[in-house]
Amino acid sequence: MTTETLRGTLLSIAPTKEVVGVFLILNIFAWLVVRVSQRWMASGQTTRAATPDLEKPASRGKVARVPGTWLASDFKRPTAPPYPDWDVHTSKPIPYRPFRYGPKYFVTLGLRSMKWNEWIELDNHYLKYHADKKKRLEERGDKCYGTAPEAMNGAIELLEELCEYLPERYPTMFQKTPTGIANTVTNETFNITQRPLAEDPMAMAARLVQDDLALMFERADGEYYLLAGAILLAGFWRLSDKFGMRLSEIHTSGDVPQYREKLEKGMMNFFRRLTPEEPVVRNNYFIQVDDSLAWSHSIGPEDAELVSWSTAEKNKAIENHFFRSERQSLRRLPKTGAVVFTIRTYFEPITDIVKEPFVPGRLASAIRSWGDDVSRYKGKEKYEEVLLEYLDQKHKEQVESGLDIEKEEDVRSYPL
Ligand SMILES: *[C@@H]1O[C@H](CO)[C@@H](O)[C@H](O)[C@H]1NC(C)=O
Ligand SMILES: *[C@@H]1O[C@H](CO)[C@@H](O)[C@H](O)[C@H]1NC(C)=O
Repeated sequence: MTTETLRGTLLSIAPTKEVVGVFLILNIFAWLVVRVSQRWMASGQTTRAATPDLEKPASRGKVARVPGTWLASDFKRPTAPPYPDWDVHTSKPIPYRPFRYGPKYFVTLGLRSMKWNEWIELDNHYLKYHADKKKRLEERGDKCYGTAPEAMNGAIELLEELCEYLPERYPTMFQKTPTGIANTVTNETFNITQRPLAEDPMAMAARLVQDDLALMFERADGEYYLLAGAILLAGFWRLSDKFGMRLSEIHTSGDVPQYREKLEKGMMNFFRRLTPEEPVVRNNYFIQVDDSLAWSHSIGPEDAELVSWSTAEKNKAIENHFFRSERQSLRRLPKTGAVVFTIRTYFEPITDIVKEPFVPGRLASAIRSWGDDVSRYKGKEKYEEVLLEYLDQKHKEQVESGLDIEKEEDVRSYPL
């Protein structure tokens, strides 16, 4: 009942003085209840579901603050327990298979809450990624990494976070030192207290993990800008094309399907609302028609003016088809307010992943469900004939050897 209808009820009664007094108190009480519950709802923190709807527009009544300023939060990431039985030589990559059955493919941000323990995922491909990154940093220099002066404190905070988290989570490979971190497998040490740093902080951070890294900062116009990054193994995009850009420009310049219609508003709201306490993850996937993790040369040489799927060769043999997926995490650093974007790429031959139950059938269905815009973005025309024929064949073989389609839900669940 709102205050208006309550007042209406009051007016329709012919009151005595005493009754008026009682009703007045009730009226004031009702008004208070309405006000308090409005406040409560506006705070947006009342219901904390296990999987919050992260793409809802920001609730009204958020504490006003000046865009581009950040009041340091005293939030501290919970200590991470060691990854169970982790070993740099034997721990296999997590087999993300983040595709769903058709008939319809939905373009969404697809964010899930991230467990703090799982911020950075490392596995037995670490040494290969590490060597690839080292080579890229040497060969391509500041085309693939950099830190804008205004982003320096955020980048150093990222380093500090990694120097805390990695020794907690992967103690068989990392040790915290008084001035930073030591990698006991590669024998590197990193001094993050000296000034100037021996190396760009994003390049340093990139040597510690398998992920590509980017930092976004809010400026006084309320927009988020990519102002620091080490993008070394991204396959399809170059940091030098995106550095300094606004969030929306990054996506529109990359022709991300339905960005304006479906994603832009949700993403902006999401960035503005992102608190240090609530990190998120998402997964995506691509098909690549060459075996190069660092840069997919099928879409053109890395230094070409314009790179595009239109230059790729069509209908290559199935051995050239690779499944590329990314596990991305987003969190806000408490001291500087920088938003850290981690992009961990997983890369496997299609001919390997089809051995897994349900995977060829589900992947074929997913690819068929892409709309025209998504198909163009993912270069489908160049590989669909060869790939779909192959996946259908592998699916048929699985069904013939007794695959129980009904059982899939018991065996696999998104994003695996
Ligand atoms: C790191 O140092 C240890 C001990 O000195 C040595 O056995 C190992 O080969 C070194 N590893 C690398 C990658 O250099
Ligand atoms: C790290 O840098 C600081 C500041 O320059 C210096 O005092 C310290 O000796 C360095 N530590 C190591 C282990 O190199």
